Amino acid sequence: MLDQMIAIVRQAGEIILSAKDVASQTHEKTSAADLVTEYDLAVEHFLKEKLPPLVPGAIFFGEEEAENADPSRGWAFIVDPIDGTTNFVRDLRQSAISVALAKDGAVEYGVVYDPFRNEVFSARRGGGAFRNGQPIHVSSRPLSEGVFGMGTAIYRREYLEPTMRLTEQLFRRSCDFRRMGAAALDLCNVACGRTELFFEYSLCPWDYAAGSLLVTEAGGMACTLEGAPLPITERCSVWVSNRVNHPILQELEV
Ligand code: IPD
Ligand code: CA
Ligand code: CA
Repeated sequence: MLDQMIAIVRQAGEIILSAKDVASQTHEKTSAADLVTEYDLAVEHFLKEKLPPLVPGAIFFGEEEAENADPSRGWAFIVDPIDGTTNFVRDLRQSAISVALAKDGAVEYGVVYDPFRNEVFSARRGGGAFRNGQPIHVSSRPLSEGVFGMGTAIYRREYLEPTMRLTEQLFRRSCDFRRMGAAALDLCNVACGRTELFFEYSLCPWDYAAGSLLVTEAGGMACTLEGAPLPITERCSVWVSNRVNHPILQELEV
């Protein structure tokens, strides 16, 4: 299953790599900070055609045209066709396709593909996590020697103050932080030990479903900022970290 998903997601990546003149094919969804391009739609349409036949009866739950379907029942593909659309529009080359396959609310398979770096992150529940087929693990660095990632919950501006407060608390304990702009890749960066932890106050299931399995299969922890398991049905806060830094969550004012 994972190999078939990877092959399809790699093909979809060709659509992103073939992109030309993206700015003229970009539309605002709710504001100038909330964009969709013709490429987001093309990738989603491609995946909607190719993925469901892999699992008869599976539903397709994609960001751009989310069906009125419940991804917590039976098999469900949970898809972000381009995570990091603003990066894509600005040619920052930090975007990914994120595909999770869940069964009855638990993510069983996850694939995150960064076509610009030719990196496929993949995981199967209980089967470990991989980058281009090689096993990956979270780091063992304490935050005092580490770098963390964060997201600004751009579509929920009410989280600005807590986001900045938490960033300050973590920055005081760490070497530095990054705001990369593609949550699925932020999670993979923790999974492969490039960063030590990541948080964002509001993410959607298509942002975190695949990446959170990558983190846990790579030996890390994934939960909400309240320490609860991540649902796959709704928007929530997300905290992922290596093992050493997970207990810090209890000490923070969130
Ligand atoms: C967004 C990115 C961004 C994060 C936002 C997400 P999109 O996804 O992952 O880093 O801060 O919360 O919604 O809109 O580019 O698919
Ligand atoms: Ca996204
Ligand atoms: Ca997206």
